[in-house]
Amino acid sequence: MHKYLDKIKKNEQKPFVIKNFINSEEIKLFKKLFDHLPVEIDNKRQKIIKKKWSTNFFPDLQKTFIQKLKANLNSFDLDNPKTKDGLESLGLFQESSMPVSLHVDSGFDFSKIIYKQTLLPLSENSETIIFKNRFYGCATTFSIDPKELSAKGYNKRSSEHLKLYGGKDFDTSIHEKYLKHENIENLKGLEVDFIFKWKLGDLLVFDRTSLHCASSNLNNKKLGFTTLTIKL
Ligand SMILES: [Fe+2]
Repeated sequence: MHKYLDKIKKNEQKPFVIKNFINSEEIKLFKKLFDHLPVEIDNKRQKIIKKKWSTNFFPDLQKTFIQKLKANLNSFDLDNPKTKDGLESLGLFQESSMPVSLHVDSGFDFSKIIYKQTLLPLSENSETIIFKNRFYGCATTFSIDPKELSAKGYNKRSSEHLKLYGGKDFDTSIHEKYLKHENIENLKGLEVDFIFKWKLGDLLVFDRTSLHCASSNLNNKKLGFTTLTIKL
């Protein structure tokens, strides 16, 4: 459990979208950057390619991105895991052709005041689903599938969420429309807070304590860039 729970909770708020966070030129640069970066993880099982933006790529775009983040979030520090070569990173590009399942990106350091995470879509026609439910343990993928529970990855695997949120049946129409890749039994007790429709240029901001997942609506593949922050 995180140590500074009161401080973490004090900074919590509803997810929000910053419209036109970057312009069309910057969108092009972000896509170019993705093409230039080395692959960090190629997970065939989850059909996802991950690349980290290490600080030796595209310094001008780094300045622009950080400046824009600073203008839109209250004071923060970046909190992205380093690259496999030990370099600082501004965040993670994820190109997936399978929807990402229910999880939380709360990190593994319980002495940090985890704050916001951001998602910059670099493709369209998809959604990210943010739930009202929050989790104060470490970064975890929530599942009831024995195969997923025994899988190895960055996140811990657990079904402890089912004991935390009351166990009410999940809304069947939302499940049908957005979450067909999740077993509806795995969503018991969950309530949707916000459905983010991916739009180029926009930035989604939400708390690192919020459970979330991709929607099942995925047209071939999608590409997004996420950044994690903490409060000092
Ligand atoms: Fe996430």
